[in-house]
Amino acid sequence: SNGEIKARGALIVLEGLDRSGKTSQSARLLSYLNNLGYPVESWRFPDRDTAVGKMISSYLTNQSQLDDHTIHLLFSANRWEKRSLMEAKLKSGISLIVDRYSYSGVAFSSAKGLDIEWCKAPEVGLLAPDLVMYLNIPPKKAAERGGYGGERYEQLEFQKNVAKYYEMLTDPSWKIIDACLPLEDVEKQMKEIVLDCVVCCKKGKPLSHLWL
Ligand code: TMP
Repeated sequence: SNGEIKARGALIVLEGLDRSGKTSQSARLLSYLNNLGYPVESWRFPDRDTAVGKMISSYLTNQSQLDDHTIHLLFSANRWEKRSLMEAKLKSGISLIVDRYSYSGVAFSSAKGLDIEWCKAPEVGLLAPDLVMYLNIPPKKAAERGGYGGERYEQLEFQKNVAKYYEMLTDPSWKIIDACLPLEDVEKQMKEIVLDCVVCCKKGKPLSHLWL
C-alpha cells in the first residue's frame, strides 16, 4: 500500500440452510484469497467462544431452554459483541468471510413465528455486508446430506419454514448459488463473485450499516 488511505477489506457473508455447504465453502474461499495475497479471516456466527456465545451454544445443544425472544436477542448480542472488532479488521484491510449473519438471525427466529420487523430491529446499526451469497438447496436435499448433527434447529420441517423466510429476506443484490451442484462448481462460482467484491472494496466502496 502507498500509506495514504488504507484500502479496506470486504465483508462477505454466506447464508443458507443447515447443511447447505457454507462451512466447506468458507474454508475454500479463505485459502483462495489467502493464496492471492489478500489478508482474510474466516468468521462465523454464532461465535460460541464469547460469554453470550456460550449461552447460545447451550441452547442449541438443548442443554438449556430459552424463550424465543430471548434467544433471538442473544444471537443479535453475539453480533454486537464482535462489531467493533469487525470494523477494525475491515478498516485495517482484512476481508472477512462470515458464515451466517443477521439474515440467519431473522430467518430462523421469524420461522418460529416472531414478527419479522421485531427480529430486524436489534440488527439495525450492525455493519452491512458488501456481499451476501445464499447457498440455495431444497430442504429435503440438505437433510439427505449425511444427516443433521442433532442440534435444536436441525429438523426438516423447521428448515422448510426457514427456507420460506430466507426467500422473503432475499434482496436483488444477493448472489444466489445453486448449492446442489458439485462442491467444485459451487466453489468456482463463489470465487469469482468474491474476488470482484474484494477488488471493489479495495477501490474504496464505503462501509454501510444494516438494515438495508
Ligand atoms: P451453525 O450450525 O452455523 O453454527 O448455526 C447454529 C444454528 O443457529 C443454526 O441452526 C442457525 C441458527 N442461528 C440462528 O437461529 N440465529 C442466528 O442469528 C444465527 C447466526 C444462527
